[in-house]
Amino acid sequence: MGAGVGVIKRFLAGAAAVGTVAGVGFLYYAWYPALPPVAPPAAGTFSPEQIERGRIVAAEGYCAECHTRTDGTPGPELAGDYRMETPFGAIHSSNITPDVETGIGSWSEAAFKRAMRLGVSREGEHLIPAFPYDHFTKMTDQDLSDLYAFLMTRPAVHLAIRPNELPFPLSLRIMQAGWKLMFFTPGAYKPDPSHDALWNRGAYLAEGNAHCGACHTPRNAMGAEKKSAQYDGAVVDNWIAPPLNAHNPTPTTWTEDELFQYLRFGVAPLHGPAGGPMSPVPHRFLSTVPEEDVHAIAHYYADIDHAAERSKHDAAALALAMEQSRAGLTGPNPDPDAKLYQGACAACHYNAAPSPILGRPDLALNNALWLDEPTNLFQVMLHGLSAEEGQSGVAMPSFYNALSDADMARIAAYLRRTRTTLPPWTDLEKKAAAVRSTVQSVPVNSSH
Ligand code: HEC
Ligand code: HEC
Ligand code: HEC
Repeated sequence: MGAGVGVIKRFLAGAAAVGTVAGVGFLYYAWYPALPPVAPPAAGTFSPEQIERGRIVAAEGYCAECHTRTDGTPGPELAGDYRMETPFGAIHSSNITPDVETGIGSWSEAAFKRAMRLGVSREGEHLIPAFPYDHFTKMTDQDLSDLYAFLMTRPAVHLAIRPNELPFPLSLRIMQAGWKLMFFTPGAYKPDPSHDALWNRGAYLAEGNAHCGACHTPRNAMGAEKKSAQYDGAVVDNWIAPPLNAHNPTPTTWTEDELFQYLRFGVAPLHGPAGGPMSPVPHRFLSTVPEEDVHAIAHYYADIDHAAERSKHDAAALALAMEQSRAGLTGPNPDPDAKLYQGACAACHYNAAPSPILGRPDLALNNALWLDEPTNLFQVMLHGLSAEEGQSGVAMPSFYNALSDADMARIAAYLRRTRTTLPPWTDLEKKAAAVRSTVQSVPVNSSH
């Protein structure tokens, strides 16, 4: 008995000692000094060429997308206060215009680079990884200098952001240091010598600044991307960002050219348009950067999704899809679900040609029918697509008012049954209602 207690006591003493060492070590690891404030760089500090390079870097990292308020009164570009709902609570992005009081006007280039590489503010506080510094850490010193030049030459906007809504203890910024210890690997991108320069450029952009994995890779319970499931697809803002690897379920391959068209122009000839949270990636950003960079990203993902092998089956998959799409639509069809589809959708989604016409996506080839859940299909039916999304100039009306949840469920079941070879979706009406409940207001383009 006595011996046993002694062992436990020694064990506890040992554990306490280890705990203290770990605590001190952790504080040492977690502590960063505040960096001294500086006067904002004078006009003429940066060359026009450098500022233009910085504009491209900012576009490839979508800084304006997350640093511009969209709820309530829309805010000025880059002045922050964009509200991000996370499973832990809402977070508001920072003002990154050169305003001294509310923005980053007093940040030196060194302070800016530390934030991008390590997720630490000028004041020495840990930033929340909703700011994707886990990707930005991969950026080169030159790109970060150019980005700084661009940001520091934007108009300074005085705008204080709303406080974050994280519960205690997550509200303590020191908690973020624990997250970093577990999930964050700092360091610039290291080129892979087994691949050529184009591939490495694509990997550098995709893994770093363009942070595609922030939406397309599933996250663990702590909100970190699961490295073992990279690009397996994930839920983001009530949409599904489909897999970008060999698990992508669409019947025709995301080849380098399909990827390039999609990322550059927002619509791929076979797969259709970029909708929802993907829409700004091409339309607002990648359409404004050098074409070679978009080619590089496309080249990289065509390798990751094994396009070379998979595309051998594309001709057969395309022929089958076109046949499935036409079946039941020529002549009378007794199936009431087919009639519903015919009335609501077929006028625009019918392709008689050997392959779909651009701007008239063939639903048999679109990810909305092939994903494990009907989320994206319901999103598109409820919101429609504006003329700025997908192929520019063509639009799809919202069916928010025209179709009930039961109607949407029937159309979804019908399309899944007749256009794919996959098992039926379940609980469709419930899922339609769930997606509808996320729609903030009736879309303006709503038919009927
Ligand atoms: C996915 C959304 C998202 C994107 C994209 C994004 N940011 Fe942020 N950023 C945030 C959020 C959220 C914060 C606030 C984090 C916090 O409160 O800890 C932030 C904070 C920052 C900060 C710290 C500012 C401060 O006052 O502490 C800087 C600097 C910054 N971002 C720069 C950029 C730049 C430059 C880009 C583009 C290359 C960019 N961000 C892209 C979400 C984003
Ligand atoms: C803000 C989140 C977000 C970011 C960032 C993002 N995506 Fe997406 N992506 C989505 C969503 C959501 C969809 C589904 C859109 C749809 O169905 O219309 C999508 C669709 C796609 C598709 C079509 C897949 C299919 O099977 O239909 C491709 C390809 C793609 N994204 C590539 C990329 C690449 C490459 C990047 C980085 C350069 C990227 N995405 C960045 C959210 C994102
Ligand atoms: C007035 C014409 C029209 C009608 C009616 C219509 N659509 Fe569309 N649909 C479009 C256009 C145009 C696009 C986008 C094409 C582009 O931008 O390249 C589209 C795209 C889609 C997409 C792809 C979305 C994405 O992000 O990948 C789906 C899915 C879809 N429609 C489903 C439907 C369904 C289901 C119906 C019936 C309830 C329907 N559509 C009715 C015109 C229409």
